[in-house]
Amino acid sequence: MFIDSHAHLDMSEYEKDRAEVIERAFTRGIDHIVNIGIDVASSRKAIALARSYKKKISASIGLHPHSASEWGREAADAFRQMALEPEVVAYGEIGLDFYRNHSPKEDQLKAFVEQLDLAVELQLPVVIHDREAHRETLTALRGRLGSLKGGVIHCFSGDAKMADLVVSKMDFYISIPGTVTYAKAVTVQEVVRNLPVERLLLETDAPFLAPVPFRGKRNEPAYVFHTARMVAELKGMDLNTLGAVTSKNARNLFGLGRS
Ligand code: NI
Repeated sequence: MFIDSHAHLDMSEYEKDRAEVIERAFTRGIDHIVNIGIDVASSRKAIALARSYKKKISASIGLHPHSASEWGREAADAFRQMALEPEVVAYGEIGLDFYRNHSPKEDQLKAFVEQLDLAVELQLPVVIHDREAHRETLTALRGRLGSLKGGVIHCFSGDAKMADLVVSKMDFYISIPGTVTYAKAVTVQEVVRNLPVERLLLETDAPFLAPVPFRGKRNEPAYVFHTARMVAELKGMDLNTLGAVTSKNARNLFGLGRS
């Protein structure tokens, strides 16, 4: 019924009960999970996980802006090699994070634009992380719109105006995380109200950003249901229709099979 378009199930938070977390998702109406790599090692783990759950979990590979300083030819070659695996459906998460600045800005910008070019070379859609870097993110994407194979801005943190631009001028999708259930999340709630549902994806970003009523706890793909319920309410749609449309969107973007 739902697709979790962004989860990090390879992380150590799931070391003790990973299989149970995944089974729980499948028994609670999650049809598919895209597991997102954040560096070379976790991208390899994402592929291995996808291989153990064929057609139920897919992998995305890339170097997160927090680790941008690790970017270079060696990483690029590793990702090139990984992209040959059938489990890999996207490139990311890549982008810019000028809020935490775990890597210097210049390193982030270099890793971001070179990975966008790599995604073009590999013909993979991109999964974008943008925190407090809206202008720079849009500039980098705009320069490559004709050649990119589409993409999604995950955990969207811009306003309704930026969302409209991303959707109408760039033909990207916008992914809505569990934070939309927080009472004070009025900006993202407005974004959801304004956008056509045909451009929305749902995600957990598990283990982070658990929706109400699990806020502050470890997140997991099964909880995408709570995000979906809030989004359906904001759109004035029934939950089944919202699930069908957002799942179709994710299948289109990532080229997932029907099974
Ligand atoms: Ni993430």
